Amino acid sequence: MEPQTYDILIIGSGAAGAYAAIKAADQGGKVALVTKTRLLSGSTRWAQGGVAFPSDITDIECHLKDTITAGRGLVDEEVSNTILKDALGHLEYLMSRGITFDAIPALEGGHTIPRVRHINGDESGLHLLRFLHAQLNHNVSIYQQHFAPSLISADNKVHGVTLWPDGDPSREFSLRAKATIIATGGAGQLYQVTTNPRESTGDGIALAYRAGAEVRDVELVQFHPTVLENGALISEACRGEGAVLVNSQGKRFMDGYDPAADLAPRDIVARAIFSEELKGEKVFLDLRPIRNLQEKFPTVHSSITALGLDPCVDLVPIHPAAHYLMGGITSDDSGATTVTNLYAAGETASTGFHGANRLASNSLLESLVMGARAATAALKCAHLETSDFSNAPIVGVAEQHRTRIKEVMTNYASVVREEQGLLKGFGEISNINTFSAKSEAEAETANLRLVALLALRGAIERKESRGSHFRSDYPNPLRRPLHQIQKLSDFNAVKD
Ligand code: FAD
Ligand code: SIN
Repeated sequence: MEPQTYDILIIGSGAAGAYAAIKAADQGGKVALVTKTRLLSGSTRWAQGGVAFPSDITDIECHLKDTITAGRGLVDEEVSNTILKDALGHLEYLMSRGITFDAIPALEGGHTIPRVRHINGDESGLHLLRFLHAQLNHNVSIYQQHFAPSLISADNKVHGVTLWPDGDPSREFSLRAKATIIATGGAGQLYQVTTNPRESTGDGIALAYRAGAEVRDVELVQFHPTVLENGALISEACRGEGAVLVNSQGKRFMDGYDPAADLAPRDIVARAIFSEELKGEKVFLDLRPIRNLQEKFPTVHSSITALGLDPCVDLVPIHPAAHYLMGGITSDDSGATTVTNLYAAGETASTGFHGANRLASNSLLESLVMGARAATAALKCAHLETSDFSNAPIVGVAEQHRTRIKEVMTNYASVVREEQGLLKGFGEISNINTFSAKSEAEAETANLRLVALLALRGAIERKESRGSHFRSDYPNPLRRPLHQIQKLSDFNAVKD
C-alpha cells in the first residue's frame, strides 16, 4: 500500500503542535497531526499559570529584561525579542477567534509586573488546548493513539515518520511528508517525581538526534519549587497571590536567599528549599493568606484536598520536582533544525528563549509563537520539495529499564549535581542494555535512556553553575556563557 503523503506532518497535539496545525491548515497546507495519546494531551493540558503575554507594546522591553535575568546569561536576546514582538499579534488573533482570558493578569516569580494571562483561574492549559483543537479545519487529518517510534530519514533529510497505531509495532505504517514538525513536549519522566504527564518521555529529542539533528543544553532541567509528593503542581501564581514558603517552625526563610523572597526566579527558590531540607527542615507552602483559594485556583485546591489536607487551615508539604526542559533540539528563529525538512517547536525545541532557567509562563507563549513560525517555514519548505522519497530508510529504535533511569537521574542529576555522581550516573545508564523495541513502552524507555545520556554528558561538560544547573564542585558561572552542543556525527557522540 502506498503511504499517505502530506505537506506537513506534526508530531504532538499540545499547544505547539495544535497551533502549528491551525496555522498550516489556514494557509492551505494538507496536514497530519499525530499524537501518541488523545488529542487533549501533553503538559499543555495541565498548565496552570497561563500565558505570559507582554501586557502591551510598551512592556516588551521589560518582559525581555525579565526573561534575560531569569535565563542567567544563556538567553538569545535577538530571538527572544522577536518572540515577544510577535506575541501580541497572536493574542489578538486568538481573541478574534473567540478565546476569553481572565480579566486581571497574574504575577509570577521573576516577572516585574503582573502579565500572565489565565483562562478560568488555574485551568489555563486545559481551556487553551480545547480552544485550539476546536479551530482545526478539514485540512487537518488527526491520528490519535499513534506512537511515532522513528523518523524516516536519509542523507540529513527527513521524509516523514513511522507510526504504531495503539502502540502496536506489528501494525506499523508510514506517513510521508514534505516537511515534519516535532512538537513532542518535554522529558520530565526522566525523574522519579515530576509535574509532567506520563507521555513526557523526551521522544522528539531522541528521534531528532538519531536522525542526525543537533541538540543542545539537554542538562538544563528546571525544577519547580512547589510540587506535592505525587507530582501535582502548586502554581507559582499562588505565591503571586500571597502564599509563602515556611519551614518546620512555620518561619518564612526566602528573604534570606533573595531580595524578591518567595517571588524570586525558580532556580533560586528550588535551591533555597533544597538547602533548608539539607539543614533538616521540612518545607511547607502556607496558602492561608489567599482569599477565595478554591475559586481562584480550583486545580490546586482539589490536588491538596485529595491528600486529606485543607489548604485554608493546614500548611502544605512541598518539594522541588522536575518540571521543564530548557534544552532540546537546536532550532532557529523559524523553527528549522539542523536537518533538512525537519522543524521543532514548543518544549522539545531549544530556541534560546529560556536560557538556563525559564521565566514562568514563557513556555506556552513560545509554543504558540514558534508553532506558528514553524508552520509557515515548513509550508514554504513543502512548496519547494519535489524529491521522490519513497525509498528512504527508517531510523531504528531501542529499549528499556525506566525505573533505573529515573533513580539514576534523581540521585545524580537533580537540583544539586557534582562530577563523581554525574560520571557514575553516566556509567550506570550506559550499561543498561538496549535492543530493538517491541512495544511503545520499550521505545519510550529507549528514548529516555538516550535523553538521560545526553543530559548527563551535558551536565558533566558544563563545569559551572548557571540557572537551574547547580554544580557543588563548580558553584560559580563561567565568565562567558556557553551552550553544550551534541550531535550524532560528533567524534565521541553519545550513542544508543
Ligand atoms: P506538550 O503539551 O507536552 O504536548 C506534547 C505532545 O506530543 C502530546 O500530544 C504527546 O502525546 C505527543 N507526543 C510525544 N511523544 C510522541 C510520540 N513519540 N509519538 C506521537 N506523539 C507524541 N507553561 C506555561 O507557559 N505556563 C504555565 O502555566 C505552565 N504550567 C505548567 C503546569 C504543569 C503541571 C506542567 C507539567 C507544565 C507547565 N508549563 C507551563 C509548561 C508548559 O505547559 C509546557 O512546556 C508546554 O505546554 C509544552 O507544550 P508542547 O506543545 O511543546 O508539548
Ligand atoms: C506555574 O503555574 O507555577 C507553572 C507555570 C510555568 O511552569 O510556567
